[in-house]
Amino acid sequence: MKIHHSFSLMFWRFFLFTCLIVVSGCEFRAEEKETRPAEEIKVSQTMEADLTLPPLVPKPTAERAAKKLVVKMEVIEKEMEMTDGVSYVYWTFDGTVPGSFIRTKVGDEIEFHLRNHPDSKLPHNIDLHAVNGPGGGAESSFVAPGHEVVFNFKVLNPGLYIYHCATAPVGMHIANGMYGLILVEPEEGLPPVDREYYVVQGDFYTAGDFGEPGLQQFDMKKAIEEDADYVVFNGKVGALTGEGKLHAEVGETVRLYVGNGGPNLVSSFHVIGEIFDKVYMEGGSVINENVQTTLIPAGGAAIVEFKVEVPGEYILVDHSIFRAFNKGALGVLEATGPENERIYSGKTQEGIYLPEGGEIQSMPISEEEIAASQPPENLSKQEKIEMGKNVYGRTCVACHQAAGQGIPNAFPPLANADYLNEDVDRAIDIVLHGKTGEIVVNGETYNSVMTAQNISDREAAAVLTYIYNNWGNNGTEVTEEMVKAQRRSN
Ligand code: CU
Repeated sequence: MKIHHSFSLMFWRFFLFTCLIVVSGCEFRAEEKETRPAEEIKVSQTMEADLTLPPLVPKPTAERAAKKLVVKMEVIEKEMEMTDGVSYVYWTFDGTVPGSFIRTKVGDEIEFHLRNHPDSKLPHNIDLHAVNGPGGGAESSFVAPGHEVVFNFKVLNPGLYIYHCATAPVGMHIANGMYGLILVEPEEGLPPVDREYYVVQGDFYTAGDFGEPGLQQFDMKKAIEEDADYVVFNGKVGALTGEGKLHAEVGETVRLYVGNGGPNLVSSFHVIGEIFDKVYMEGGSVINENVQTTLIPAGGAAIVEFKVEVPGEYILVDHSIFRAFNKGALGVLEATGPENERIYSGKTQEGIYLPEGGEIQSMPISEEEIAASQPPENLSKQEKIEMGKNVYGRTCVACHQAAGQGIPNAFPPLANADYLNEDVDRAIDIVLHGKTGEIVVNGETYNSVMTAQNISDREAAAVLTYIYNNWGNNGTEVTEEMVKAQRRSN
C-alpha cells in the first residue's frame, strides 16, 4: 500500500513538474486536491465535548462531521495520594493527573472554557500543543481563582498532543501535575480498534525521598537538578496496578494514547511481553511498525497499538528501568482468554544442568582438607544474621527493598509482615520453591511472581533468620534442619 502510494505521489510530482515547465503559470495546487485544507472545513452544529478521566478516552469521532466543540475544564488544586502513606498537593485539570482527555477532529472549532476553582491559591492557564497561535492558548487563558476565561481555536493538524499549564514558574506547575492529552483525529477518524486507554507519565520531586511518609512538599532544587523521587503513570504509584489494571481480551487490538508530561524526563515506553505492531511516532502521522520501545519526549506523546495474542499480565514500564521498579513507572494490562501454546508455551521442562565434566570432583587428600572444604557448621544466631544480610543483598533486595518495605502494589513487604510472622514453614517453602498467585500481607493484596531461590540450605536459614530478626519481625531463628524438612516435603 505504502509503496503504491509513494509511487503515485512521485508520479504526480513528476507530472506537475513537467506541467510547470511546459505551461507557465501552472500551480502545484492540483496536488492538494485530495485533502482539503483544514481551515476550509465548515462546521455544523455546536456540541459540548465529552471529556473522560484517565485511563478512559471518549468515543471515536469518525462518524461525525466537524463541529463547534465546547470544552469546559476546571483547574483544581487538591491533596491526593502519591503512594501508600505519602500525599502531595497536586494542581490539576479537572481533579486528576493527567487531566481530562479531549478528543477532537481536524476542522473542529473549539470554544475553550477554562475555570479556576475559587479555592485555588494561584492563577493558572493552558497551553495546548494542538493550537496554532501564540502560547498555544496560554496568553488567552490566564485565569485567577474564582474566574472563567474563554478562547477559540480551529483544529488544523491531526495528532496526539500534550496540553499543560504554562503559568510561571512553568516547571513547577507542570511538576505538580498540570498536563493531559488532546487527540486530533484526521477527518476520516483513526482506524477502529477494540480497546483504547489513556496513560501519561510524569516525574515528581518531593522534599522526602521515595516512600517517605506524610504530606510531601515540592522540592525546587531536585526539580532543577532533574533528580526525580517519583516517576509514575497517571499521577501516582500504582495508578495502573491492582484495581487500576487495564484490561483486554485475547485476540483484541489495544491502542494506548501515551503522553509524557515531564517536566524533565524522557520516557522509554515499553510493554513487557508485547511488541508494538504500530507506533504513531511522537503522536504524529508517521507510523512505525514492530517496535519494542518508543521514546516519548517530555511535552510529547505517542500512539501505540498491539494485538494481545496470549493471556497474562503485560507490564507497562519506562524502560529506564530503575524508574519502573524503584520510582513507580509501572502499570499492568491484564489479558484474559484462551492460551495459545503455539505462540507462547510457558515453561515446558526443567531439569538438572551439569556442564560437561561438571560432576567430576577431586578427592580431598586429608581429613583437614575435608574439614576445610566444608562451610563452618553450627553458626550462632548472630553469625546467621550476618551471613543472611549478605545473602539478602545479593538475592532479595531488588524486590523487597533495603529495609524490607517492598514496593507498593508490586512486591510485598517483609518488614513487620503478618504473612511472614504467622508461618515460618510457609516462608521457608516460598524461598525454596517460589510463589505465584495472590497473597495478602498486612491487609494489602499482592499478585506478583517470586521465583524459587537457588541458594543452599545454610543460606536459606541465614537469610530468613536475618529477615525475622529485623524490621519489627518476631525474631524467629531458622535452622538448616527446618530448611531441609521443607525441601523434603516438596
Ligand atoms: Cu498552573
